[in-house]
Amino acid sequence: MSQVDVDTLAAAHAVTPVAALQNIYSMVERDSEKSVIPFCLTHNIALVAFSPIASGLLSGKITTQTEFEAVDDVRKFVPQLTKENIAGNQPLLDVVSDFAQRKHATMAQISLAWMLKKYPNVVPIPGSKRLERILENLAASDVEFSDAEFEELQKRLDACTVYGNRGCVETEQTSFGNNWKKAQQ
Ligand SMILES: NC(=O)c1ccc[n+]([C@@H]2O[C@H](COP(=O)([O-])OP(=O)(O)OC[C@H]3O[C@@H](n4cnc5c(N)ncnc54)[C@H](OP(=O)(O)O)[C@@H]3O)[C@@H](O)[C@H]2O)c1
Repeated sequence: MSQVDVDTLAAAHAVTPVAALQNIYSMVERDSEKSVIPFCLTHNIALVAFSPIASGLLSGKITTQTEFEAVDDVRKFVPQLTKENIAGNQPLLDVVSDFAQRKHATMAQISLAWMLKKYPNVVPIPGSKRLERILENLAASDVEFSDAEFEELQKRLDACTVYGNRGCVETEQTSFGNNWKKAQQ
């Protein structure tokens, strides 16, 4: 199952045990924390977190100057990646950057290590076309926070307002779908 709320998950789980659920989850997409992840914890279900680096935003490599040029790049339709929302989320990115410096890690690694520490049943699936980033993201499992560091990180993230969301750009056929068709012609 993917991108379902807790009611749908519970209905499905009552029919047959659900092993894993793939929902969006990252430092800037935390809705699943309210009831989906608690339900998964209670019922021994894995939460496979897609877009865990927020389509690259949490790596700090995307700035207000970034242009997404390829016709099939879904990031140009991601509401969280408008220049206004990137600027709005800068205080949160500064927190991630601060921890990256302190832990001698990259921002992408901090964003992944945070969810690995936070929940035993959350499995992030970062996407990358580059070998070095795949290796970098895998090494997030080597980043360890002390309880005090983690508490501080949590508090500082909680204090940030999140601007925009990712949206379901792959399934919005009026945007990505039509442009993809154009790219194929
Ligand atoms: N179930 C669903 O509905 C659904 C929806 C969307 C995605 N997914 C799945 O979720 C997975 C990942 O999601 P996603 O690709 O949307 O988001 P993501 O992993 O949060 O971000 C991927 C983007 O970040 C960049 N990136 C990755 N690692 C980086 C790093 N260490 N430093 C800097 N940039 C980095 C990648 O660019 P480069 O390629 O240039 O490195 C790519 O553009 C995929 O397997 C996808 O199939 C599922």
